[in-house]
Amino acid sequence: MCGIIGYTGKETALPLILGGLERLEYRGYDSAGVALIEGNKLVVEKQVGKIRELVKSLWGKPYKGKTGIGHTRWATHGEPSTENAHPHTDEKEEFAVVHNGIVENYLELRKELQKQGVKFRSATDTEVIAHLIARSYRGDLLDAVLEVVNKLKGAFAFAVITVHEPNRVIGVKQGSPLVVGIGEGENFLASDIPAILPYTRKVITLGDGEIADITPEGVNIYDFEGNPITKDITLVPWDIISAEKSGFKHFMLKEIYEQPKAVGDTIRGLISGEEELPFSLKEFRRILVIACGTSYHAGLIGKFWIEKYSGVPTEVVYASEFRYGDFPVSEEDLILAISQSGETIDTKFAVNYAKEKGAKTLAIVNVVGSSIDRESDYTLHTHAGPEIGVAATKTFTAQLTALYYLASSSHPQREKLTSELMKVPSKIETLLDKSEEIESLAQKFMKKRDFLYLGRYLSYPIALEGALKLKEISYIHAEGYPAGEMKHGPIALIDENMPVVVIAPQDRVYEKTLSNIEEVKTRKGIVISVGFEGDQKLEKLSDYFLKVPPLEEDLTPFLTVVPLQLLAYHIASKLGLDVDQPRNLAKTVTVE
Ligand code: G6P
Repeated sequence: MCGIIGYTGKETALPLILGGLERLEYRGYDSAGVALIEGNKLVVEKQVGKIRELVKSLWGKPYKGKTGIGHTRWATHGEPSTENAHPHTDEKEEFAVVHNGIVENYLELRKELQKQGVKFRSATDTEVIAHLIARSYRGDLLDAVLEVVNKLKGAFAFAVITVHEPNRVIGVKQGSPLVVGIGEGENFLASDIPAILPYTRKVITLGDGEIADITPEGVNIYDFEGNPITKDITLVPWDIISAEKSGFKHFMLKEIYEQPKAVGDTIRGLISGEEELPFSLKEFRRILVIACGTSYHAGLIGKFWIEKYSGVPTEVVYASEFRYGDFPVSEEDLILAISQSGETIDTKFAVNYAKEKGAKTLAIVNVVGSSIDRESDYTLHTHAGPEIGVAATKTFTAQLTALYYLASSSHPQREKLTSELMKVPSKIETLLDKSEEIESLAQKFMKKRDFLYLGRYLSYPIALEGALKLKEISYIHAEGYPAGEMKHGPIALIDENMPVVVIAPQDRVYEKTLSNIEEVKTRKGIVISVGFEGDQKLEKLSDYFLKVPPLEEDLTPFLTVVPLQLLAYHIASKLGLDVDQPRNLAKTVTVE
């Protein structure tokens, strides 16, 4: 995690760097800092807390430098403190480094440097990079970086500047993401595209083992041996509007409302033919779905669809569990990695492991050019646009779209199934138009400390996702459970204080779910149900009823998740919490 940015060009660097950091803040926000070349000096400013604290501390300071780097941190090595905040410098403060990821052999390197008399000021792994580069410097920053990168182990990206070469920034990518932005008389480096979108849409996505040497006049890319590499420049299709709030109070709310478009654009992208796969799911002995967080929940729903439409046994595994388990993987398996960012390290490692074992790898990712996109054999892209809120919403429904499309691709009635899928965007739109009651429900329940979410079959993963949304942004404890399992434990928790959210569309398990609701009511639990509009039986049985438009059984998850996203959002917003950047979390998890 962590966000890094670098700039060198014709403009004053500081405001550009701070703006970029604000757009990278979703990657971590424990502390932030900048380093600028001011005349023949390096200045470094850092603050604990969010970017706004750094901005406040810089008010009135007359920095005019045209080259600089910035960082927003999600702490791994060393607690969030000013000393541990980036940028880190060498002892003479001539070199400054910002870094994302982990240098795994830093303790060894640190000890070696300490033996040589280097005094460390922080507990971070990053500081070793600054000292090593300073010690290797003999008049050319690129040469020094080349000497150092081959000593570092782990997955990381960093950017470095020096007072000795005031119009140069060097960026290194090995595992963590880094893109180069190409401007006119100015160039950029950043962890992610939104950071630089107001200034340029021309980007080069660096691959692992690549170094970008940027000056105001140009960009050169090298491998770790120093050989020049030619890279394509891509024109980013998003504009800055799609990365801004457009009148919504929070990105999360805007992104919930963007779901009809995210699903519609994803269907259009998939059926345009560009994403046609040269194989059928039926060719495989088994499909292993690998993902984390919300993407894992999408995978659980995908499993039902894949097994129903293709008959291929499918397992869904958390990427972090897959990697260190003893899963037998072979050429007969298809590994399906789902990741919004395409950078989640556990998912990425799982893909690499599966490839080594000879399995075919297919990814569903939202970020084009991300590591998982590049490293998988095939990719189905979701077209949700940039998602800034840490809690995933529109990328989840876009992932469901890609999964449904994939699952139905091997079915004889594929076209009929696709036309069913095409009904989804307008149904979500109708649902969003009629969702005012959720805000008053949030008001009633915002003081509760525990929630239980129940569902069966396709609604079970939705129960997990609803509970995840609530806990991650409101810090209220919430548990998702298969409704039929309730009697094996969670039922003991139910009393007159316990809100129980039950997802009960009229599907094959509807009657069974109603019986579970009766069991909750008998124990005086408060039932908030999500069901089809016009379902009077369910409405009568429940204390509160959230309606969704009726839809064919298989597609209900696209709709039932939306009221749960809104409920979590309104509770967190009414509690005055930082909805888009909840504590301790980060949007892209690039550490194990
Ligand atoms: C983090 C994010 C979640 C996301 C998960 C997996 O935990 O906060 O919103 O679901 O990572 O991320 P991915 O990019 O792989 O889908």
